[in-house]
Amino acid sequence: MKTFKKKKALSRLAKKEKTAGKKIGFIPTMGALHTGHIALVNRARAENDLVVCSIFVNPIQFNKAEDLRAYPRTLVNDLTRLEQAGCDVVFCPETEEIYPEPETRAYDFGHLDKVMEGRFRKGHFNGVATVVHKLFDIVQPHRAYFGEKDFQQLQVVRALVKKEGLDVDIVACGTVREPDGLALSSRNVRLTKFQREEAPRIYQALKMAKEMYPDHVMQAIREKVIACVNKSPELKVEYFEIVWADNLLPVNTPEPGRKAVACIAANAGPVRLIDNLALNS
Ligand code: PAF
Repeated sequence: MKTFKKKKALSRLAKKEKTAGKKIGFIPTMGALHTGHIALVNRARAENDLVVCSIFVNPIQFNKAEDLRAYPRTLVNDLTRLEQAGCDVVFCPETEEIYPEPETRAYDFGHLDKVMEGRFRKGHFNGVATVVHKLFDIVQPHRAYFGEKDFQQLQVVRALVKKEGLDVDIVACGTVREPDGLALSSRNVRLTKFQREEAPRIYQALKMAKEMYPDHVMQAIREKVIACVNKSPELKVEYFEIVWADNLLPVNTPEPGRKAVACIAANAGPVRLIDNLALNS
């Protein structure tokens, strides 16, 4: 496995491999890798000739300095896991390599980046789009792999690709969960013992929403879900929304055959957990 810190050297390699007819699969990450990330690597491994992974904690997508500071950093362990998973290339740049000067890009994704996460984390998706665009320019992948756990991020990245005419296929991969249902997240290691015990409530509440949909009014589902999570003294719902999968607008009246997704964010002390579940197929 080769490790790059400089974008020019990585771009040179990517160009050479593409010219030789190799397909490049790319997994952008912020490190603190878990089994969910490795599932993305495995999928990319199966579908491409060259697998490239980036590890970069992107400062401009954090709206709270404390969250950026507390984000887990486990580079040595990450590199071992990637090598074991058969990753070919890792890009782990310093901040100045990605942002040699202050960033000024401003994307317009309409309401896509304003609802849910966007409402509570101002500038977050502009930061995500900026770094993903830069990384795509450097790596020039044929395919890029994203987890469905960050469902809104996935839709924003798809919109970015469409809007900017980027030549990359976005591959969505299912959420990987702990046996008790908690969605894997790099933030889970920050949970206390009690928060960790209570956190699976989030998935239980989503499953309850799935059972209730489409036979109950949306408000009734919302109230039940929020009550179920907030019943735990360790958890506090920030938002719960039922949205159309194709445009993230709220579902008021279910439509047969149209995919709806329940999305939730809850705080466990200073740790913010998000999850989602398709309500129909
Ligand atoms: O999902 C993440 O880990 C990050 O938002 C991403 C896509 C790597 C951009 O920094």
